[in-house]
Amino acid sequence: MKAPADRLVRVWDLPLRLFHWLLVVAVAGAWITKETPLESMDWHMRFGLAAFFLIVFRLAWGVLGTRTARFASFVKTPHKAVSYLKKMLSPRARLQPSDGHSPLGGYAALVLIGTVGLQALSGIFSNDSIMSGGPLSGYVGYQASDALTAFHEFWFNLIIAAIVVHLAAILFYRLRLKTNLVTPMVVGTRHAGPGDLIPDTGRPSPVKLVIALLVAAVPTVVMWLVWSTP
Ligand code: HEM
Repeated sequence: MKAPADRLVRVWDLPLRLFHWLLVVAVAGAWITKETPLESMDWHMRFGLAAFFLIVFRLAWGVLGTRTARFASFVKTPHKAVSYLKKMLSPRARLQPSDGHSPLGGYAALVLIGTVGLQALSGIFSNDSIMSGGPLSGYVGYQASDALTAFHEFWFNLIIAAIVVHLAAILFYRLRLKTNLVTPMVVGTRHAGPGDLIPDTGRPSPVKLVIALLVAAVPTVVMWLVWSTP
């Protein structure tokens, strides 16, 4: 008998996917322009402000986005995350597809959003002890700015650690659980078999999208103006 055809189910909306891949570019760009021979403080700050914009957008989208983008849908109790981890690591692991982030993946998303957010926020107050500073570095006094600069330099190591764990988890899903998480994060959809009843996340509301973009754009433009005004 012929098996029923797979359905294509929308998992991640387009704004969330654009957020994700632009965040990858912003974080990589900020690192390259600080830690390699392509060093440029101006470009480092542009990438940093882009990361700030993206994180504020994601916070707003966590309330206004489609179901799988909303914090309320993917932040589960720690207990659920731990039992999911146990199931995942058991030798006979057979996990059902999750509705967006798994209970554990939800916490991973919060860690990535939170660590990059704190990095971008501290950069706004940091200085390079020569002549450049983040947009608000001149408003908090030298001592506070120096302390936040030290935090900014240290904190990036935690982002690298979070990214390594993130990529290792994706590889684990692929190799051990035979689940491809990357394609849905690129194209937005996944194949759902006959017994898989998780509903489509739906289409984003254009009005809510404009609101989330404005929520992120206003503080970013203010920072940009403060930074670029002599
Ligand atoms: C600078 C590096 C990266 C950062 C900062 C980052 C950040 C994030 C964040 C914040 C999320 C949560 C999405 C959300 O709900 O907003 C996420 C999820 C995800 N990321 Fe990344 N990411 C990075 C690199 C990558 C790379 C290189 C890949 C693919 C090879 C990847 C694949 C994914 C996938 C598949 C998910 C969804 C996981 C799930 O189903 O729960 N990420 N990432």
